[in-house]
Amino acid sequence: MNEKETKGIFVTFEGIDGSGKSTQANSLLRRVQENGFNAVLFREPGGTRISEQIRQILLNTKHTEMVAITEVLLYSAARAQLTEEMVIPGLHENDIVICDRYYDSTTAYQGYGRGINMEFINALTSEAANRIEPDLTFLVDVSVDLAEKRSSTIGKRDRIELESIEFKKKVIEGFREIAENNPNRIVILDGSEDIEQLTDIAWNKIHTLLEKEGIEIAPEGNSESI
Ligand code: ADP
Ligand code: TYD
Repeated sequence: MNEKETKGIFVTFEGIDGSGKSTQANSLLRRVQENGFNAVLFREPGGTRISEQIRQILLNTKHTEMVAITEVLLYSAARAQLTEEMVIPGLHENDIVICDRYYDSTTAYQGYGRGINMEFINALTSEAANRIEPDLTFLVDVSVDLAEKRSSTIGKRDRIELESIEFKKKVIEGFREIAENNPNRIVILDGSEDIEQLTDIAWNKIHTLLEKEGIEIAPEGNSESI
């Protein structure tokens, strides 16, 4: 997050569908709240009235005619609304804002997966996010086989989840390359490990960052940070 007048830290979770990132995002939310910090969790695409409607359009399995450029513009539109309505206000009001996916998903799925020009993606995602950047990103990394196995237990698949194994492999490789290019921001979690163990790793990183930023639990114990 660049706007240092905001008090909170911005944390995102990324990974292929079925990696376990939503499980981790929720588990980390509980952990930070149990430790007395104010935190909120949003999901992408979604989290606002307009973004949830865009989500319906994007994930509808009947929309097989959707072209890649429409897809990237809609994901970015949903993110622009979430950023202005929820993420930025959330960072003013909370110690931590957690997002289940943010712009790395667009780079991985629409950039590496669909092959849309990366310069265009970078410019678009930066504008849509109002130039804010996550302070810390967890990439929950799994093999495509494990992700498929986990997804199959959940039931109905959305339009993107119905994509080919080839597409999903490109997305996974894309996420790994994004992590390699951003070693200071992105921490790779081995998604095949135990849920609680992964939350321990994520919480340790968050705790260190909270200390570095001087964010503490309010002494009166009402979870307001100083
Ligand atoms: P995603 O948000 O990445 O699509 P979910 O968090 O919804 O994935 O998890 C997909 C499935 O895998 C769920 O049934 C969840 O309980 C299970 N799961 C998530 N993380 C783990 C883990 N570390 N070990 C075993 N099962 C997991
Ligand atoms: P999500 O709700 O996270 O699905 P899941 O919980 O199954 O992982 O995301 C919906 C789908 O949208 C998912 O398949 C990934 C895709 N997606 C993109 O293709 N580009 C994006 O920018 C975002 C945010 C998501």
